[in-house]
This record gives sequence, structure tokens and C-alpha cells, in this order.
Amino acid sequence: VVADGREVLSNIVASQVETHQEYGGVVPELASRKHIEAINYIVSRSLAEAGVTFKDLEAIAVTNRPGLIGALLVGVAAAKSLAYCHNLPLLGINHIEGHIYAPFLALDALPFPHICLTVSGGHTLLVEVHEGWQYKVLGSTQDDAAGEVYDKVAKYLGLGFPGGKVIDDLAQKGNPSAVKFPRPMRNTDDYQFSFSGIKTSVRYFVEKARRAGLLVENGQQAIEDIAASFQAAVVDVLVYKSLRAVKATGAAAITLTGGVAANSHLRASLKLAAAEIGAEVYYPPMNLCTDNGAMIAGIAYQKYQQGLRDGLSLNATPKGSIF
Ligand code: KG4
Ligand code: ZN
Repeated sequence: VVADGREVLSNIVASQVETHQEYGGVVPELASRKHIEAINYIVSRSLAEAGVTFKDLEAIAVTNRPGLIGALLVGVAAAKSLAYCHNLPLLGINHIEGHIYAPFLALDALPFPHICLTVSGGHTLLVEVHEGWQYKVLGSTQDDAAGEVYDKVAKYLGLGFPGGKVIDDLAQKGNPSAVKFPRPMRNTDDYQFSFSGIKTSVRYFVEKARRAGLLVENGQQAIEDIAASFQAAVVDVLVYKSLRAVKATGAAAITLTGGVAANSHLRASLKLAAAEIGAEVYYPPMNLCTDNGAMIAGIAYQKYQQGLRDGLSLNATPKGSIF
């Protein structure tokens, strides 16, 4: 529950991480079932914690794209029912727009236009954000998302799922120059990204190291070095291309959002690099970086003010651009 698109009155998150952990990744069918189990409880807790009832609400918003269709359908069906029962306007929101909005929830003001780097398990996107929450997409990943490669690399190293936080922690103790992993598309004349090459390099390196007995003999140190070197490659490309966008557009600020925005090395490196060209960096607190309802409610308020109303024919779609 968010008031005026600014004040987070409640932000209840139901994590499914434990359910998917034993499979080493998200199982779509299980995700949908867990959504069904959780949704009514989450809605009532959100209202209770915010100290409001349905009568106090002005509109209901729901993520309807892009994402796993089963999970989206559960949310959309629930939101439609509530909108119908309580006679409230309904708004379907793009998940990525929620991430782009998240930093704003924690700030008094944000300069426009600014550059937003969205890095999550499903997306890597560089966007120029204009007044009125209008977007110009500068570039995105051509293959894997940044978070996806964190999760895959963690899997190769036997570190469980999801992998971002574990690798982040291990990397702090490792040597980022121990292994020179590639930086695909770092120097291309655009804002596109590619991470599958880094992922494959790490995979071959780990297999070779394992065959050579390195991961047993000198296990912990080797894993920390691989984690740090992998992270250095990913963060280097993300920071370099984001800065390129800031310089080219003359934007005064850059925001960092999505699950991977919780990464300590990415936060620190971006801040350092941006300071050199006098640009501000804003990132939301951790609980607004990873998926949450407040960011969806926040951007929905702005869209509501702009006149968006979707009505009960709203559908969920697995894809969806923010153009
Ligand atoms: O935005 P999010 O919660 O869900 C999606 O919309 O995908 O992002 C989840 C992703 C996962 O891939 C996870 O490994 C990654 O964010 N992540 C991190 C960190 N914390 C979460 N990646 C790098 N460093 C972290 N500290
Ligand atoms: Zn997300």
C-alpha cells in the first residue's frame, strides 16, 4: 500500500526462494501454486500493516507483464476480483517500470532525465528516463540477464540458489585479478550487453580447475578468487556502459535498480566512476531493489494521475516492452 506514489505504508513480500532452492532455479508451475497459496494472506496483511481497509483505497494495481505467465495470471485474477468487488479502478503495470520507479520511493527528488540501469534475474536494461515517466530504451542484454549469470555461476561452483548474494560475499575475500574473464561487448559502440560468454568462460575454468584438483586442494581461496574475478568482469561492463550513457546523454544522475543492484561491488564501482564525471548515483535500499509490491503501487499512482485505467478486460502477458 503506497500513498500518493511516495509514502510506503506497507510492503509485504512473500519469498518462494526455499521452494525453488532444491531445484537450483525457479520452477514455473511451483511458482504459480505458491502465488495462489500466498496472495489472499499477503493482501490482507498489506492492508492491516498499512492500517487501511479497501474503502481507503483509490485504485488497485497489479503486475501484468513481463514474467512467468502462471504467476502473473494469479495476480491479475486476484486484482480483477478485488477491483470488481470493491468497485475500484484497475491498472496493469509493467514489472520493469516498477524497478525503474523503485529508487524514487526512497528519495525526496530525482533529476530528469536520468539514466536507469535495471539489473535483475530476468533483465538487464539501460533506459533514459524522462519527466512524466517516459522512457527511451538505450540497450539491453542480447542473451542472459546479469542476475541469471550470477545464479548460473553459483550453480557451477556448487553454491546453491539464488547465487547473487553468495557470490557477492565470497568475492569480497577473493582476488578480482586472479582470472582474466572476458568483457563481452564492453567496447561496442552501443548500449547492448552480453553475458553468456562470461558465463561459459567461468564454466570452462571451473571444470578445468576441478579436473586439476584445484577446488579441493585450495578450495575456499580458489572459489573466492573465481567469484571475485567473475564479478569484476560483470561489474566492469555494467559500469562502463552505464557511464557511457550518462556522458552521451548529459544526464545528471544514474539510478541502479533490480535484484543485482543489491550487489556491493556494483554499487561501490558505479558510485566511484560516476563521481569522476560529477554524476549522482541513486540506488534504493535492498528491500526495494529486489521484487516488491511498493514499486508497482508507486508507478501505478503516477500512471493513475496520467489517466491510465485498464478495466476488467486486463490480461497477463509473458512479454511486454516499456516503450
Ligand atoms: O529483481 P529480482 O529480485 O527478481 C527478478 O525480477 O529477477 O532479482 C533477482 C536476482 C537474482 O538473480 C539474484 O541472484 C540477484 O538478483 N541478486 C544479486 C544480489 N542479490 C540478489 N546479484 C548480485 N549480488 C547481490 N548481492
Ligand atoms: Zn524484478
